[in-house]
Amino acid sequence: MGNKKKSRRYFLKTLGAVTGAAFLGLWGLMTGDLQKNKRKKTISIPLDDNRAVLFSEDCIVINSGQPKVFSSYCTHLGCRIKTLEDSKLVCPCHGSMFDLNGNPLKGPAVKPLEKLEFTINKNSNIMTIKI
Ligand code: FES
Repeated sequence: MGNKKKSRRYFLKTLGAVTGAAFLGLWGLMTGDLQKNKRKKTISIPLDDNRAVLFSEDCIVINSGQPKVFSSYCTHLGCRIKTLEDSKLVCPCHGSMFDLNGNPLKGPAVKPLEKLEFTINKNSNIMTIKI
């Protein structure tokens, strides 16, 4: 009787481990593809605006001094940041704050905002950003 319980327990543990590993593998494949597809999109933003911070669909352009571009998605749980208060980028969901270099000033977010690659056409003054 004791051996039957042990073998059932062993079977259930093994089944759980195999199911969990399969799920994690599929999840990795799915999210990996999403990340790759996500990077294929580009957007163009005219920089003839005098605002120092521009909020676009998926990004935040810091247009003062050396231009910088960050993902507008908060590194805590991914809410879209679209507010500037006292020169700080503020997440509407849980109140994380970031400086204009993308560094977290106040949690719960602890990671900096993701930097995005971009180019600027000097003639047209249009910024092209890889999202
Ligand atoms: S998602 Fe931004 S603080 Fe939680």
